[in-house]
Amino acid sequence: NRQDQDFKVADLSLAEFGRKEIALAEHEMPGLMAIREEYAAQQPLAGARITGSLHMTVQTAVLIETLVALGARVRWASCNIFSTQDHAAAAVAVGPNGTPDNPQGVPVFAWKGETLEEYWWCTEQALTWPDATTGGPNMILDDGGDATLLVHKGVEYEKAGEVPSVDTAESEEHAVILGLLTRTLAENPQKWTNLSAEIRGVTEETTTGVHRLYEMHRDGTLLFPAINVNDAVTKSKFDNKYGCRHSLIDGINRATDVLIGGKTAVVCGYGDVGKGCAESLRAQGARVVVTEIDPICALQAAMDGYQVARLEDVVEQGDIFVTTTGNRDIILAADMARMKHQAIVGNIGHFDNEIDMAGLAKVPGIVKDEVKPQVHTWTFPDGKKIIVLSEGRLLNLGNATGHPSFVMSNSFTNQTLAQIELYTKPDQYPTDVYVLPKHLDEKVARLHLDALGVRLTELRPEQAAYIGVEVAGPYKPDHYRY
Ligand code: NAI
Repeated sequence: NRQDQDFKVADLSLAEFGRKEIALAEHEMPGLMAIREEYAAQQPLAGARITGSLHMTVQTAVLIETLVALGARVRWASCNIFSTQDHAAAAVAVGPNGTPDNPQGVPVFAWKGETLEEYWWCTEQALTWPDATTGGPNMILDDGGDATLLVHKGVEYEKAGEVPSVDTAESEEHAVILGLLTRTLAENPQKWTNLSAEIRGVTEETTTGVHRLYEMHRDGTLLFPAINVNDAVTKSKFDNKYGCRHSLIDGINRATDVLIGGKTAVVCGYGDVGKGCAESLRAQGARVVVTEIDPICALQAAMDGYQVARLEDVVEQGDIFVTTTGNRDIILAADMARMKHQAIVGNIGHFDNEIDMAGLAKVPGIVKDEVKPQVHTWTFPDGKKIIVLSEGRLLNLGNATGHPSFVMSNSFTNQTLAQIELYTKPDQYPTDVYVLPKHLDEKVARLHLDALGVRLTELRPEQAAYIGVEVAGPYKPDHYRY
């Protein structure tokens, strides 16, 4: 990259390959393409400056170019150090009409294999708009809440007039964030306060990020309204479940090529992600054991035919372990010490604290060895090895390419509609956390039926009256669970 260019990707010469895969993905993303057509004339996002922090994949490229097609300007970072597809990032930076020598696309700051310092630098770049009066975006599109977190922490420390000392950091990553905010406070003590004042809202992609938003709202610290995209039915009941059903085993296969049939797989957590993971492992012929803390989900797993056990009771029998909880400390170093030789351990939840990697590194005499990027063996002093995928970070994006286009079209159509809602109707959304109205959820599903040859039955007016709905929907009350 030339120094004067306002983006940073691994290799611009990958743009042509990226553009070809984007073209294939567009065909598999009918929801996004229909939204482009529907809103082309209206340009509802004209004037929007959207900062995105979401895995920089081929599918995300189609999302970014949809936002641009609706009038938005966009800056982007990935939300994970391993999840960027470098050819997709290059194609977005070059743009559909640019060339590697004359890039004309969207400023993207993302490459596969960032350090934690680089990761947070990229997030800061995506949030820093050189030509905006406030220097920032007026919309955020987040996945896991890191962009939102940086703004909120920045404002908190600017109010306090100081950033806690790096010595108080709870982790390496926390230290990086404190270091970054110490620098920005010195450079511009109003940077985040000014920037946040103009943000109309954030649309959040995932369970973990949504959890953070509800916590901030409960504590009275949320600075702008948010739409919880995750809990659109056409997001969490599709992406989290059917997406992981596809991309979990894709990640395990690309990382290890181990035969899954006949093996014992332990899935920790049986929420939407756990349900998809367990199903795909069983479909490959694995014997699947589920662990849960919630009696409802545990009962669901049992009724679906899985053994439900505690990790400590099956840790010596498992060949493959997958954490899907969004919770911390699920597999500890002491658990890994008890596993079989060459047990495979991976996480598909949003953050890397589900598997205690820091504890593993501290086991006396343990040796870490790289088989290939994102695949490591850890050899215990007795010679037993375990295989850890993506250093405990989400393995479907670290070891494979994340969810395929069709399911992401559902998620990202929700994202786009949520951006339009918050950007165009700020008066209707005082600071709070919202879900999209059900008619938009049904619209997203409807946009994906033709591609699968689905012929939907139409309600007759008497039938609609009998069950108390409109012929055009919504068809279910808000409390319906699908
Ligand atoms: P969820 O809330 O539906 O499911 C999590 C489940 O884990 C719950 O049923 C909960 O009871 C269970 N759990 C919590 N602590 C546990 C423990 N100590 N032991 C066993 N089970 C435990 O959440 P969802 O939607 O399934 O998401 C899970 C995680 O995956 C989140 O971090 C989310 O952000 C992430 N995610 C990752 C995706 C990917 O592509 N890698 C896609 C979608 C979500």
